[in-house]
Amino acid sequence: MSSHQGFILWFTGLSGAGKSTLAERLVREFRAREYRVELLDGDEVRTHLSKGLGFSKEDRDTNIRRIGWVARVLARNGVIAITAAISPYKEIRDEIRAQTLAEGRAAFVEVFAHAPIEALIERDVKGLYRKALAGEIQNFTGISDPYEPPDNPEIVVHTSVESVDESVQRILHYLTERGLIGRS
Ligand code: ADX
Repeated sequence: MSSHQGFILWFTGLSGAGKSTLAERLVREFRAREYRVELLDGDEVRTHLSKGLGFSKEDRDTNIRRIGWVARVLARNGVIAITAAISPYKEIRDEIRAQTLAEGRAAFVEVFAHAPIEALIERDVKGLYRKALAGEIQNFTGISDPYEPPDNPEIVVHTSVESVDESVQRILHYLTERGLIGRS
């Protein structure tokens, strides 16, 4: 039997900060518990729902509002909707939070995947920071485009110092204490 509420687990953070990795681990954990869960990953959403959108503020806002809309529809029907997009603008994240709470049918949990930009440049898994620093990619978040951290996220994971397991466990602990998921 599944034992969970519908909620949005909204990851935000710079490229390479670990949003997708943590989101995928949580999806696996929830599926193992037979929970209903969906993942909306920025990179993947941009291949269909947001195909053709770029990285201007306007396009990012459109992308994030689309992700927020789908997440809301899922969560109000009892699904755990996990999102993993940079979502750099606080105002848009707060707008989606407010819409979700106004409906009164799902919770909104913001997780800030925090890592110092120096650590991300050093690791540079996709090689994009190097290109952004060389000026080969314009408007790159954290280098030549803004990132607005949340003021009051429900959870902060420090992904350059915590292991993936530690971060996942802390998120699960928070969700359990909030009564959003069962005690496993
Ligand atoms: S968001 O700003 O609209 O939330 P999203 O999470 O969908 O961004 O996409 C971010 C991913 O797109 C990054 O992980 C990176 O792989 C790629 N990317 C390509 N160009 C940029 C850019 N200018 N800024 C940030 N990410 C970029």
